[in-house]
Amino acid sequence: MTDITLAPIQPDQPSHLMATYGRQAISFVRGRGAYLYTEDGTEYLDALTGIAVCGLGHAHPVIAEAIAEQAVTLVHTSNLFEIPWQTAAAQKLAEVSGMEEIFFSNSGAESNEGAIKIARKFGTQQGVRLPKIIVAEQSFHGRTLATLSATGNKKVQDGFAPLTNDFIRVPFGDVEAIQEAALQHPDIVAILIEPIQGEGGINTAPQGFSYLEEVRNICNQHNWLMMLDEIQTGNGRTGKYFAYQHTNIVPDVLTTAKGLGNGFPVGAVMTQGKAVGLLGPGSHGSTYGGTVLGSRVVYTVIDTIQKENAVENAAVVGRYIVDQLRTQLADKNVQVRGFGMMIGIQLPKDCAELVAIARDQHKLIINVTAGSVVRLLPPINMTQAQADDLLERLVALINNYL
Ligand SMILES: Cc1ncc(COP(=O)(O)O)c(C=O)c1O
Repeated sequence: MTDITLAPIQPDQPSHLMATYGRQAISFVRGRGAYLYTEDGTEYLDALTGIAVCGLGHAHPVIAEAIAEQAVTLVHTSNLFEIPWQTAAAQKLAEVSGMEEIFFSNSGAESNEGAIKIARKFGTQQGVRLPKIIVAEQSFHGRTLATLSATGNKKVQDGFAPLTNDFIRVPFGDVEAIQEAALQHPDIVAILIEPIQGEGGINTAPQGFSYLEEVRNICNQHNWLMMLDEIQTGNGRTGKYFAYQHTNIVPDVLTTAKGLGNGFPVGAVMTQGKAVGLLGPGSHGSTYGGTVLGSRVVYTVIDTIQKENAVENAAVVGRYIVDQLRTQLADKNVQVRGFGMMIGIQLPKDCAELVAIARDQHKLIINVTAGSVVRLLPPINMTQAQADDLLERLVALINNYL
């Protein structure tokens, strides 16, 4: 063990960190399952899990053991060599996703970059000189130049012109707008959407998951690639391994990250059907994508999700939380939405201040997105007792606030 002890951060301490984040003045030194702890031992219930990352909870013993064992065995060799853990992780991910080919990356944005490259390659092969991709309003796809261009939030794009001009934007859930775009733009080759918009406010399409079926039909009709961004919704979060599994369709391209590594930075872009084989030798790569260590983590995370029946748990306990919130907050002007452990509570007013109130008064970690939506992303393996603990703190928070 290291003998370095870091001094606590002082409020006025000068920092060399780029000021890209609005940070809360608290830090956690330890975590266990659904709980986080500060240096003085204060316990917080974590209903955010690092923004849908630690789906199996903090410091999961099986994941921790896999990381520790691999760290003292072999961390990285490069993709110049065969990596049996990468092959095994791809096999597992193919099993749970129904996809055929997998490329491992290190983050969500990078996985979406891979998807955008696949769409461009697909278009180019069809003879489309400048291929276009349909994306949705209020979407979030990342912070790299191509993915921020795809993102439907002006704040993310502000000051970063020139944006890439691949993207045609339509309202989320509006299939007529997609058909209209098809008439106007013969160079469209793909659609990229989130099954449930996370950063946008836990938005489900007005027609529910049948929106995905409608999009699938349109993609088939026009020979476009259907590409789903499941970076937030994937890995059991919505009560299915991937959210599109609430339907009978399969996308051509699928991206994921976040819960795939339970806190270890990994991502993946996957293909099946007509999207297979578009990225061949020399066309894509990543030094850190699919390292021995990262791949073993992916394998172990999926294996653990399966062995703990965590996806089924997310469906059942998530349903319970939603039902209880609807009942217990019935006299409040709120709308509760979401699937599994991806839950939004739409409040009638902006409520960013609730994050600090929840933390300081209820020892509860939540997030507010899209101004007025309390976003809950608890561990997918949360127990019923922990869900009751969450409900007690949350209902008190909202009752006091409204
Ligand atoms: C749907 C979606 N896509 C992409 C991203 C970007 O992922 P990353 O921050 O790992 O680049 C996020 C992150 O919040 C996301 O929610």
